[in-house]
Amino acid sequence: MTALLEVEDLKVAYGKIEAVKGISFSVEAGQVVTLIGTNGAGKTTTLRTLSGLLKPSSGRVVFDGKPLSGVPAHKIVSLGLAHSPEGRHIFPRLSIMENLQLGAFLRKDKDGIEKDIQRAYDLFPILGERRKQAAGTLSGGEQQMLAMGRALMSQPKLLMLDEPSMGLSPIMMQKIMATIAELKAQGTTILLVEQNAQAALSLADQGHVMEIGNIVLSGSGQDLLHDESVRKAYLGED
Ligand SMILES: Nc1ncnc2c1ncn2[C@@H]1O[C@H](COP(=O)(O)OP(=O)(O)OP(=O)(O)O)[C@@H](O)[C@H]1O
Ligand SMILES: [Mg+2]
Repeated sequence: MTALLEVEDLKVAYGKIEAVKGISFSVEAGQVVTLIGTNGAGKTTTLRTLSGLLKPSSGRVVFDGKPLSGVPAHKIVSLGLAHSPEGRHIFPRLSIMENLQLGAFLRKDKDGIEKDIQRAYDLFPILGERRKQAAGTLSGGEQQMLAMGRALMSQPKLLMLDEPSMGLSPIMMQKIMATIAELKAQGTTILLVEQNAQAALSLADQGHVMEIGNIVLSGSGQDLLHDESVRKAYLGED
């Protein structure tokens, strides 16, 4: 079986600075795969490249059997790859409902869209309670929920989440992680970038550790969670 996402020797540069130096990994349908690593390792650059927002200098990305080389970002969304970006980027003046509707901008099935908005409210009841409120009035954690809900509105085959727990209180972080686990249980395939290695590895099938543009270690979530070098570097143990 071929994987839903295959990344082969991907390199991405900002001018002369090579931020991603030739990484390879794959995501099977139904899996949660996580990329962990320190600041500046190239995690966000990788997701932005998969989304078509950055052009790789070389390498190959195949999503759902199709090479993504030269495919524009909006087309990539319509192929089923959704991205909840680092820092959320919700539209603060629009209502929560309008933000969710924008996530479905490529869809024409009104009934389906309505159903999926309801599904987002089921997943995150606070969004339903505040549906008419401007999204900018939500707390950081609630905005993260909205960003995830919006990404789901395109009915993705693969959901990419960039640091969904960033800046959240421990309780809010747990809530977000529990939702990721729930989405996984529903069969959603997820590529998760996280600074919180403990939480990410705990629910991931596969994990990859990135350091200055390279993948330096790969394994199952459980293996990495118990790996001594990972524990020292990312889980704050001596
Ligand atoms: N627009 C840009 N122009 C130039 N360099 C950039 C740009 N964006 C990122 N970089 C550099 O590329 C490298 C990788 O950055 P990236 O944002 O992908 O890291 P990251 O792993 O997501 O880090 P973090 O955990 O801090 O979010 C860093 O050295 C960063 O400074
Ligand atoms: Mg980042």
